[in-house]
Amino acid sequence: ETKVVSVDNFMDNERNYKQAVDILKSGGVVAFPTETVYGLGALATDELAVQKIFEAKGRPSDNPLIVHIGNKEQVFNYATDISADAEKLMDMFWPGPLTLVFHKIPGVIAPNVTPGVETVGVRMPDHPVALGLLRALGEPLAAPSANRSGKPSPTEAAHVHKDLDGLIPLILDGGQTGVGVESTVLDMTTIPPTILRPGGTTQEMIESIVGPVNSETKSPGEQAPRSPGMKYLHYAPEAPLYVINYDVDKIYAAIDKLHAEGKKVALIGPDELGVSGADWYFAIGVAGNNEAMATNLYGALRKCDLTEADLILAVETDLAGVGAAVMNRLMKAAEGKHFMN
Ligand code: TXA
Ligand code: MG
Repeated sequence: ETKVVSVDNFMDNERNYKQAVDILKSGGVVAFPTETVYGLGALATDELAVQKIFEAKGRPSDNPLIVHIGNKEQVFNYATDISADAEKLMDMFWPGPLTLVFHKIPGVIAPNVTPGVETVGVRMPDHPVALGLLRALGEPLAAPSANRSGKPSPTEAAHVHKDLDGLIPLILDGGQTGVGVESTVLDMTTIPPTILRPGGTTQEMIESIVGPVNSETKSPGEQAPRSPGMKYLHYAPEAPLYVINYDVDKIYAAIDKLHAEGKKVALIGPDELGVSGADWYFAIGVAGNNEAMATNLYGALRKCDLTEADLILAVETDLAGVGAAVMNRLMKAAEGKHFMN
């Protein structure tokens, strides 16, 4: 059975960190909150411990993990060829939701953290519990999102518990995460750098520091993604999900049509939309507030699993700022399907 321990973000949590550190140092895994989503951590230098992450998640073993560090300087222990631009990005956005991919220094990180690649993704999370844990540990954690592979990433400890109860010894519960979508993965081994996964640090923010970057994500499905994780089915609730334009008449018509086919419909959309005749409605923020949509998206996808919906309609948002990450996750959850009346 999995133990869940509450960690107050504003209190001294030494005892809770000690429990977690003891488990990690003896080769176990621990789930912990970050500012993006909950992570499932193991010592990045311990191959057997890292193997337990893949087992608990049911994760394909060819998908590399992000190395989480508790202070910026640690990046030089694991990565090499760190450019001046990379240092600027680290100064601006660490701690924060930005994973930087560098050439790895061979033989330091356990081989199964970076299967099949010569690079390593590193980030410094911006969350008091993640940082408290990393500092108490004094070593880096390899940590993917703490969901079963294919499920939406967990933004609450209860989501982790639902997916991994009995499979891991400990969850540190730091409440709901803030950003709500994962970190941006930026490949610093290309010139210019390439966004492999849009996330909490927006393309606009990155370009304001280093100028134009490439984005693999603007033209989905053209070539095999270089961020190996992007090729798998992701973020998927149980019922089929369709993305639909933010057009109120079209949404009403879609729901009528689906009801006529005897289908029950869950609707995910902006606050202003209202239930629109759907059987279940999950509001995720005021239209145009892409930060709110990011914060609430995964929780809404998971709530759909608690309904008897035969089908989910999710209303499209614009691509500004973190909207790019919201739409990237929605299109993956939808396997590219747009609802056509
Ligand atoms: O916000 C986040 O990044 C969260 C929290 C827990 O830190 N972590 C997370 O990890 O989302 P995960 O494993 O679910 O996603 C990591 C993504 C995958 O798409 C993986 O393929 C990519 O980052 N990635 C990791 N290392 C890479 C590398 N060396 N080269 C290319 N892609 C890499
Ligand atoms: Mg993940």
